[in-house]
Amino acid sequence: MTRKIIIDTDPGQDDAVAILLALASPEEIEVLGITAVAGNVPLPLTSKNARIVCELAGKTGTRVFEGCDRPMARDLVTAEYVHGKTGLDGIVLPDPKMQVQDAHAVDFIIETLRAEPAGSVTLCPLGPLTNIGTAFQKAPDIKEKVQEIVLMGGAYFEVGNVTPAAEFNIYVDPEAADIVMKSGAKITIMPLDVSHKALTTRPRIEAFRALGHVGEVVASWTDFFERFDMEKYGSEGGPLHDPTVIAYLLKPDLFTGRHINVEIELQSDLTRGMTVADWWRVTDRAPNATFMGDIDAEGFFALLTERLARL
Ligand code: BDR
Ligand code: CA
Repeated sequence: MTRKIIIDTDPGQDDAVAILLALASPEEIEVLGITAVAGNVPLPLTSKNARIVCELAGKTGTRVFEGCDRPMARDLVTAEYVHGKTGLDGIVLPDPKMQVQDAHAVDFIIETLRAEPAGSVTLCPLGPLTNIGTAFQKAPDIKEKVQEIVLMGGAYFEVGNVTPAAEFNIYVDPEAADIVMKSGAKITIMPLDVSHKALTTRPRIEAFRALGHVGEVVASWTDFFERFDMEKYGSEGGPLHDPTVIAYLLKPDLFTGRHINVEIELQSDLTRGMTVADWWRVTDRAPNATFMGDIDAEGFFALLTERLARL
């Protein structure tokens, strides 16, 4: 059966690959809409990049909505130092012809969850959780209508990538992340612990490049943004974070994790946005998320290559 999803995103090259993976998989996934949020780069660019990616995939009928341009309670922090000035540095693609939809992304999320049967829409956040947190705050009734939230964010063993303690998506809007974690919805988390095991090695990237135009663009994106992590970690490639969310919908068996309690640090400046994951179950706090810890990286890249070849 086709799974209905909303992709909430701040493209970003890895977000872009995740969008391509979803759009390449219409038999399993129906993308009800893509909601852009400020994150890797400011909102006008994430919205533009989302439309560029839809056009690259030849899926110009995909609806793209603009959402929040700043976190719920803090100043926006961006990551041009990883993703480049445009957020999508790599092969330069044409400006999009697609227009954004009239509705605000938060209203689209609320109206869609209210209109669709309960338990039939999955939210896939790939950036700061501002749009989802705002929607839950504005319309608490929608929380129980969500089928599942599968998000990229947080870390346990790998700890932080933007500070020593925090992963970027959660760090940028910890208040929104806290609302989501306390929502009572079914939540599956793809943290750095997973994406740091899915590295863009040379053979994997060359397999993309051999696919034709879409594959060449994807290879140029990963070539661009992996340099940052390769220098930082001394690894043979960069982590491909966000596509793990869509891969999980297509092939959940690629991942293993634990159903545990995960809380968000809001108070400390030192550890702001830390995902305090009770991996060893040392507290009696109730589990609220499935926190993934491992990935079959070969299977993940095989899936990506096979699907990108369809575009
Ligand atoms: C996350 O932050 C962004 O830079 C990436 O797009 C990903 O969603 C990884 O920490
Ligand atoms: Ca992202």
